[in-house]
Amino acid sequence: DIHFIEIPKISDPDGRGNLSVIEKNILPYKVERIYYLYDVPSDSTRGGHAHIKLQQSLIALSGSFDVVLDDGEKREIVTLNKPNKALYIAPGIWREIENFSSGAVCLAIVSEVYKEEDYIRDYQEFLKFKSDRQH
Ligand code: TYD
Repeated sequence: DIHFIEIPKISDPDGRGNLSVIEKNILPYKVERIYYLYDVPSDSTRGGHAHIKLQQSLIALSGSFDVVLDDGEKREIVTLNKPNKALYIAPGIWREIENFSSGAVCLAIVSEVYKEEDYIRDYQEFLKFKSDRQH
């Protein structure tokens, strides 16, 4: 399951800019942790893993980047470039984040505290995990 979540945007009537707010009810899980990626060189790739249990939402708070999503059968690439649009990623999805623009900030709002045991960092292991779960 991968889908977009629209984040409410409050545009100032006097032209003082926008305000977006994420209240707990717009995310389909309880938030346990927030982290962000920034100062990422344009030729670097982040992510390169899947999670067993963790759910997360990614937001391009500033700039843009591409998220490569892979469920073990098909791959798609989603560009994030709007601070009021979150990309929800369910567990069991391989993701890579790349093509960061200058000044891009990737906010991650996630459902678990940091646990290395929840990561699958090897792509072949990920494919095995997916096929084991289908049988
Ligand atoms: P990692 O999840 O591998 O980053 P990415 O997938 O974005 O490339 O994390 C990089 C390092 O930071 C790794 O050593 C683990 C550490 N880390 C924490 O200690 N706590 C955290 O909440 C996160 C996300 C990473």
